[in-house]
Amino acid sequence: MAKNTRYQPKSKRRAEESVRTLIPRGQIERRIAEMAGEIRRDFPTERLHLVSVLKGSVFFLSDLARQISGEVSLDFISVSSYGAGTHSSGEVKLTRDLDSSIEGKTVIVVEDILDTGMTLQYLLRVFEQRKPRRLRVAVLLDKPERRIAKVRADYVGFTIPNEFVVGFGLDYAERYRNLADVGVLTLGTKERKS
Ligand code: IMP
Ligand code: MG
Repeated sequence: MAKNTRYQPKSKRRAEESVRTLIPRGQIERRIAEMAGEIRRDFPTERLHLVSVLKGSVFFLSDLARQISGEVSLDFISVSSYGAGTHSSGEVKLTRDLDSSIEGKTVIVVEDILDTGMTLQYLLRVFEQRKPRRLRVAVLLDKPERRIAKVRADYVGFTIPNEFVVGFGLDYAERYRNLADVGVLTLGTKERKS
């Protein structure tokens, strides 16, 4: 925890950024193990096909997959929501498709965070057309206050307030993904608009 709060960015532009721990790593680990149990209980005998939405969900996926007993297969998809800051434009584009067909499979979409819901709404539309046997959604974090699209996750790690978070895969302009805890990012008043 102290590691994060001592984080000292070097460049001037980032000098005012700070990260306050919101969910420590141990809590994340325990919750993911519980979620894995919930998912397996709902589908006791089926092979589960985990579809990770790159890149934010990679650590969540790797922990979740290893906590689920029985048969599991993995695939990856990548979308961009046109924006590198703390607000996305809501327009979603598929930038990397899955390697294999999901037809007839029990698919669990694995996402880092459910925010406006635009990304998930887009993905669910794409996946439904491909006729999976079942389609479920697991998200590590849920920010329900920000929801625009009418979507919900079947498995939610943590419901969090309307704040911009980083760490455990989540980024701000591709930085902070490697923090082991989830923390709230504060941009200082001296941050220049670029
Ligand atoms: P949505 O389409 O608005 O639900 O946003 C989904 C995507 O936006 C997530 O997969 C994240 O990549 C990104 N995002 C939303 N909120 C946050 C946040 O608080 N921190 C980092 N990324 C976020
Ligand atoms: Mg992102």
